[in-house]
Amino acid sequence: MPVTQNEKTITLKHEQSGSSVEIYFFGATVTSWIQGGKERMFLSSKSTLDASKPIRGGIPVVFPIFGPPPSSPPEYAALSQHGFARTQTWTLDKILMDREEGISVRLLAPPPPASFNHSYKLAYVITLAPHQLVTDLHLTNTSSSENFIFQALLHNYLAVPDANKLQITGLDKGVDYKDKVLGGKLCTWEGGVLTIEGETDRVYQKVPSQEIKVDDGAGSGFKVRFRGFEDCTIWNPQEKGKSMADMEDGGWDRYICIEPGFVREFKSLKPGEEFLGQQVITVL
Ligand code: BG6
Repeated sequence: MPVTQNEKTITLKHEQSGSSVEIYFFGATVTSWIQGGKERMFLSSKSTLDASKPIRGGIPVVFPIFGPPPSSPPEYAALSQHGFARTQTWTLDKILMDREEGISVRLLAPPPPASFNHSYKLAYVITLAPHQLVTDLHLTNTSSSENFIFQALLHNYLAVPDANKLQITGLDKGVDYKDKVLGGKLCTWEGGVLTIEGETDRVYQKVPSQEIKVDDGAGSGFKVRFRGFEDCTIWNPQEKGKSMADMEDGGWDRYICIEPGFVREFKSLKPGEEFLGQQVITVL
């Protein structure tokens, strides 16, 4: 059976290629992607998986805010870091496709917490193909009278053998980025190759190429393409990871986050308007 589920997870298996993906209903978090016989997602061995905290690894869904809450409006200011989608329990809506080309399922988010009084529909489509994992966030403003503002991001933790050996390319020269390590300083990317030489936490804004490549320095890597999403956060805490209770020892050397999102400001949807944010991750 290519799609199986239990009370906590749903698993897609592509029998011809042996690829598979595991998704927790908690946060609609992809926790495993096996491709070419290898685990391609980093999941901290210290992560809780009991729905008490966001999952540390895989692909948490960040919505409706990215990072710490803004100072207003009040219902957004009251949210936790990265919003609530990653700690909600989603449900399986439909198996959309089950063919040799790929297997695809759609999950639906439950209504927002009562204090966040907005109407929207949030769906997440996960598609497993032999060499690719595609995750699409579909948002519709279901209010008939009010605009809905949000930020969203797909917080992948890509498994790599050694973060210090990575070569990250595809960020266009001249793109602005907010360097959170420098207190949010706005900088301009000088082009070329980004390497991880210490704590890295940058929000690249409006990336025209919408395609980032990671060469893992060991003959493999990833390509992350996106559309709808325009920004891309690149995060690896290095030794600062020691202060994260759910980060396994040395885990920061075993992943890189290349996170497509719409996060440089709030995006506004008119009543009835839809937004699609997609990431396509390919193993190189
Ligand atoms: C990244 C942010 O997207 O997520 C970082 O840019 C943050 O600043 C990281 O530390 C992890 O966030 P959290 O809430 O999962 O610990």
